[in-house]
Amino acid sequence: MTMAEVSDWLTKTPVSHVIGRTFWVVPVVQSVHILAIAVVMASIAMLDLRLAGMLGREQSMQDLTRRFYPWIWGALVVLFLTGLIMIMSEPGRELLNWVFWTKMALIVGAVLFTAPVQRLLEDVRYRDLPRAKRVTIRLCAFASLVLWVGVVTCGRWIAYAGDRT
Ligand code: HEM
Repeated sequence: MTMAEVSDWLTKTPVSHVIGRTFWVVPVVQSVHILAIAVVMASIAMLDLRLAGMLGREQSMQDLTRRFYPWIWGALVVLFLTGLIMIMSEPGRELLNWVFWTKMALIVGAVLFTAPVQRLLEDVRYRDLPRAKRVTIRLCAFASLVLWVGVVTCGRWIAYAGDRT
């Protein structure tokens, strides 16, 4: 089955019809998606900037990950569910769009990269590390931020790419 066939099939399902015809579903779901993006990005920024030694140096990395990971995972679940509803509302707009698939790949990459990177510092104070390690950690923290910003950019960009006829 090609992606176009999957998309055609999804478009014809009753769920897709109901979502498409109920005027408030997509705006409400989009708003929840945006709120969850704010939660993920704020939490990731706190962790990555702490990792880079740029804020919250008095707080241990362990405390911060314990505090922010539940928010990140919770918001990712909300993003996944609201994303599915948006896909069902217009399957072709998403599934036949290369920016949508770039975003999905970036999400997988960002999640896989972020988790081990947050463990780099453990409970050692940033300024006690040798210079080479500080540079590596800072580069990893910025790479993680760039990946997440890439996800947001692709999310917004979906509307301007693909077959919009
Ligand atoms: C986890 C699975 C996710 C799925 C299945 C998903 C799916 C979607 C879909 C279908 C759209 C609508 C795009 C359009 O037609 O214009 C969208 C919008 C968007 N998504 Fe996601 N998304 C997910 C996670 C994320 C994450 C993790 C972020 C960023 C941290 C994100 C950021 C955005 C942004 C910025 C928009 C544009 C919102 C707007 O302008 O209304 N998404 N997403």
